[in-house]
Amino acid sequence: MEKQKPADDEYQMLSESGYADRAIRYFQARENFGVLEDADQVTDLTGPCGDTMKISLKIDGDRIEDARIQVLGCPGAVASGCALISLAKGKTLREAKQIDLDELYAELEKMPNQKVHCARLAIKTLQKTLEQYEGCQPLGAAAGEG
Ligand code: FES
Repeated sequence: MEKQKPADDEYQMLSESGYADRAIRYFQARENFGVLEDADQVTDLTGPCGDTMKISLKIDGDRIEDARIQVLGCPGAVASGCALISLAKGKTLREAKQIDLDELYAELEKMPNQKVHCARLAIKTLQKTLEQYEGCQPLGAAAGEG
C-alpha cells in the first residue's frame, strides 16, 4: 500500500527551501499554537527581524503543566516555536531554561541555515517568560531552588 504523501504545494516549497519533514510538520500542524486562557505567565518578545512570539505558561509547582505559543512570523518561527513548546511541556522550570539550540534543532531535524535566528528567538522568548514568572514569585519560592 502506498504511503500517503503530504505532497501539497506548501510542503513542497518548504522542503525545497531546506526544512526537514519534521520541521514542516510542526509548522503545518500548529500544535501548541495559541494563548492559554488560564495562564500563570504570558510574555512576548519581538526579534530584530520584527517577528513576535508570545508564550503562555500554566505552571504547577515547579513544572510546566501546559504551554502555548503564538507567533507572528515566518515558517521557521512557527516551526521553532511549536517544537520548543512541545519540548518544554512537562519539564521543570529549570529544565526548560536549559533547552538550547542543539536540543531544539534535534527536535526540528533541519531548517535552512538562515533560519537559525528564528529558533534562537523562540528560545529567548521562553527564557524571558520563565524569568518574568520567577521574578513575580516570592523570594526563595522560585521553582527548582535547592
Ligand atoms: Fe523572524 Fe523567522 S524571520 S523569526
